[in-house]
Amino acid sequence: MQFIDLTTQKDRIRERVLQRLEAIVDHGQYVMGPEVPELEKQLAAYVGTKHCVSCSSGTDALLMPLMAMGVGPGDAVLTTPFTFVATAEVISLVGATPVFVDAEPGTFNIDPDKVGAAVLKAKAKGLNPKALIPVDLFGLPADYGRLEQVAAENGLWIIEDACQGFGGTFNGQRAGSFGLVGATSFFPAKPLGCYGDGGAIFTDDDELDRRLRSVRVHGQGDGDDKYFNVRIGINGRLDTMQAAVLLEKLAIFDDELVERQRVADAYSCRLRGRVDVPEVPEGYTSCWAQYSLLAASRADREKIMGALQQAGIPSVIYYRIPLHLQKAYAGLGYAKGDFPVSEDFSSRVFSLPMHPYLKDEEIQKICDVIVKA
Ligand SMILES: Cc1ncc(COP(=O)(O)O)c(C=O)c1O
Repeated sequence: MQFIDLTTQKDRIRERVLQRLEAIVDHGQYVMGPEVPELEKQLAAYVGTKHCVSCSSGTDALLMPLMAMGVGPGDAVLTTPFTFVATAEVISLVGATPVFVDAEPGTFNIDPDKVGAAVLKAKAKGLNPKALIPVDLFGLPADYGRLEQVAAENGLWIIEDACQGFGGTFNGQRAGSFGLVGATSFFPAKPLGCYGDGGAIFTDDDELDRRLRSVRVHGQGDGDDKYFNVRIGINGRLDTMQAAVLLEKLAIFDDELVERQRVADAYSCRLRGRVDVPEVPEGYTSCWAQYSLLAASRADREKIMGALQQAGIPSVIYYRIPLHLQKAYAGLGYAKGDFPVSEDFSSRVFSLPMHPYLKDEEIQKICDVIVKA
């Protein structure tokens, strides 16, 4: 059994993807070919934003808005320590300081009630709090109702890290569309993934869209001269071939979301009451990037994961070390006990196989092993 099985999906779209790749080999526009704007148009319509700027990874999708908004040394950007390292890494890459805000019990997402205190702490350290990066962890959008309010109260703008959230919704609005700007990843293991690295940025802001397109190509100016550079940028383009793969995957994405929900429902139905299953609050949908559970204790997690391994079932821990305790962030001066909710999650969380093509009998087998353990 595989943790994420891309083979069945590949068989489903193989012919159409190959046709598209062949067309690119023939038209020869390997960089910024016509498939790129075609994809951006479809993605913007899907997410419900005015603009979509495709790019080379989810990491660049987070980095580019920080660069475009001029975030740098002396600035603080608030985020959760219970996330993949890229969320905080981009803050450090522009020379700003990550300021962590604990996750909330119940969901795995940032706690809006703790943002205000973190802003005060950042100011006390002489930093200028500029932005907030909530993460739609495991596929569930963060609480943008409360987050947008608290961000406005504290003069912060929001970058939504929807790298795991693409396809989820909050109050009928799609992940990627919250805050000033949203970022997603098309890493192959993501709910919408390509056959390599890729990402996209979403915004309604015309000026930010213009700046992001400039940052994407080495800070290029608006004119015809591509060697006229108006700001520091990167090479952040999405390959034409990846855009083609994504166009075919987007065509079956809604169908796959239904299947992901089927898998999550089947897990929760069998496991609720035995382990702490992920609950989706009223008004939200998850795209189920991961199906993540909490065991009763670290020891129980070891026991369950050991039993799964013995039965040939893969399971993974996202994330064993919260970011404030990572060696790379030792310089920020945080200590064990600073973010108790995130630390508790790290000690008990584990994720089960999750993909749209998981069969009912496989789900049954996984649940039987967990219940027995
Ligand atoms: C929450 C989160 N943020 C950022 C990223 C970075 O995306 P990428 O791997 O495409 O650079 C990921 C992907 O793993 C992620 O899960």
